[in-house]
Amino acid sequence: MVPKISTLGGYIFEYQKSVTNPTGFWSNIAESFYWRKKWDHILDWDFRSGLTKWFQGAKLNLTENIFERHLFFRGNQPAIIWEPNDPSEAHRTLTYSELFIEVQRFSNVLKGLGIKKGDRVAIYLPMVPELVIALLACARIGAVHSVIFAGFSAQSLGERLQDAGAKLLITSDGGYRGSKTIPIKQIADDAMNMCKCVTTAIVLKRTGENIPMVDGRDHWYHDLMKGAGDTCEAEEMDSEDPLFILYTSGSTGKPKGLVHTTGGYMVYTAYTFKNVFQYGDGDVYFCSADIGWITGHSYLVYGPLLSGATSLMFEGVPTWPDAGRFWDIIDKHKVNQFYTAPTAIRSLMALGMDWLQNKSLATLKVLGTVGEPINEAAWHWYHDHIGKNRCPIVDTWWQTETGGIMISPMAGITPTKPSYATMPLMGIQPMIVDQNGKQLMGNSVEGNLCISYPWPGMARTIWGDHERFVNTYFTTYPGLYFTGDGVKRDEDGYYRILGRVDDVINVSGHRLGTAEIENAINEHPLVDESAVVGFSHPIKGQGIYAYVVCTHFSTGGEEGIRNSIMMAVSTMIGPFAKPDKIQIVTGLPKTRSGKIMRRILLKIAEGKTSEFGDITTLLDPEIVNDIVKGSKEI
Ligand code: WT7
Repeated sequence: MVPKISTLGGYIFEYQKSVTNPTGFWSNIAESFYWRKKWDHILDWDFRSGLTKWFQGAKLNLTENIFERHLFFRGNQPAIIWEPNDPSEAHRTLTYSELFIEVQRFSNVLKGLGIKKGDRVAIYLPMVPELVIALLACARIGAVHSVIFAGFSAQSLGERLQDAGAKLLITSDGGYRGSKTIPIKQIADDAMNMCKCVTTAIVLKRTGENIPMVDGRDHWYHDLMKGAGDTCEAEEMDSEDPLFILYTSGSTGKPKGLVHTTGGYMVYTAYTFKNVFQYGDGDVYFCSADIGWITGHSYLVYGPLLSGATSLMFEGVPTWPDAGRFWDIIDKHKVNQFYTAPTAIRSLMALGMDWLQNKSLATLKVLGTVGEPINEAAWHWYHDHIGKNRCPIVDTWWQTETGGIMISPMAGITPTKPSYATMPLMGIQPMIVDQNGKQLMGNSVEGNLCISYPWPGMARTIWGDHERFVNTYFTTYPGLYFTGDGVKRDEDGYYRILGRVDDVINVSGHRLGTAEIENAINEHPLVDESAVVGFSHPIKGQGIYAYVVCTHFSTGGEEGIRNSIMMAVSTMIGPFAKPDKIQIVTGLPKTRSGKIMRRILLKIAEGKTSEFGDITTLLDPEIVNDIVKGSKEI
């Protein structure tokens, strides 16, 4: 059994142990898992070359730690409870035994289609149980899964399929999201036509729409499953064999395929899940994130299932059929731990208290947030009206790259402060540095957040581009992992995450690179140049403000250009990346060396036009006045 800390004293003691003797600490945690062969060596690392290896020489299969390890005691316990988009459709429950059979059958399906250890399998599915089955079947046979969030466009999906060299794509006819039906297969078809590597597709029937199936390439999920045997021996994996690739945005245009490996990720997600949420036997845990993002991977699928938990997944959106949907689900399934994003809390808060009428919420014990800073008002609303003043809130800071939660309270153990992620978890050694890389010691300091020592859940590389991995994370401050976030450590030593300090923006918990959006906008034939900044937005956290240089207009005029830019971004990335504001300008503020001064564009976007500071280094200071004038009109 993975150890669970239960007191503040216990935390302080364990934390000390974990930083004075990290390898001893983690090998002790790892002992509670099932390894076919134990490790020869616990940790090898060198942050200068971006190298980290945990539990080297160990052999295991992660799914044996979900199924074989739990079946005897938990065979009949629900592993997954699935709540459909439409509340009038029946929910589904899969016990550990049932899920195991489905996973083994699907493992056999994949093998039958020629998928072998190390092959990449891409998954583009809505939030249905088959998504979990697909992930675990890949893990069972040693294939590397790469889930692409079903909100991404064909272009984005195609790029990712190509980058990962995926052989097979698992997708569906369509998907439901609130009142909308999404043409998933159509998007998948366009993407597959764009890349050369995918030769096989498995298509799940979800919406029943009439869709074309390509002969020899496309197969129906239900047809393949019919003939599949229900036992499948697990492939023996090395601790450092890749488990999955997950794409995320960075400060350049091209998305990064972060690679997570098997042993360390398993140990880290299970350990942090149990401790942060203080999950107890029989609890029902509900994470509202999509499996297309790291939160879904680590804290809907892997962490909970490795801990023998009951994990609830929800297909739909919080506001459909009405804004009480989350609370109905919590009451219906007697949810004990609920994990969601600040943006969801803010949007529900804005819709008012009526939606909370007649909701009991009495089963809730722990509330969690993730993905972006939570403002104090939203924290209090969550605490008072959802947690009814009795549920601790865990504000969990982490990243796609970290694999699991890094700085967070442990529920009911760490005293909380609104908007603070509080304290590092066991084994995590945060370091705050200034612009020059000088470590800021002591309390009451503010700077850039780095981590100075490896932890088992961290990403090992960027798929196909280790140099980029090193350059992105380990060269800004040599010898340290740089997170890209600003942070404050207050007078009590508590951490508060201040947001990104690089060219990454966080829109409703979706991470986007400004360069990525600019590239999409620049594709428009009438656009000469553009600059994108993220500005404070009351619901989304950050909104997207695009300054676009256009000198020629087509028949639709400015409005026409704005609309077609929106379309272009939707097509190139996905609808969630559409700018909130587009301002057509005649030029951008640039330094004499040609660098765009984003600082100024950000001030304009936030309406703080009296705080420009020194603009004398600008090539053409006049342009600033023009942009300010224009900004008032949109
Ligand atoms: C970025 C990572 C980790 C799962 C979801 C997002 C921001 C994340 C918090 C938090 C303040 C947070 C950071 C981070 N972030 N959690 N509790 N408080 N900011 O994963 O897409 O990789 O984004 O999200 O800026 O760097 P991601």
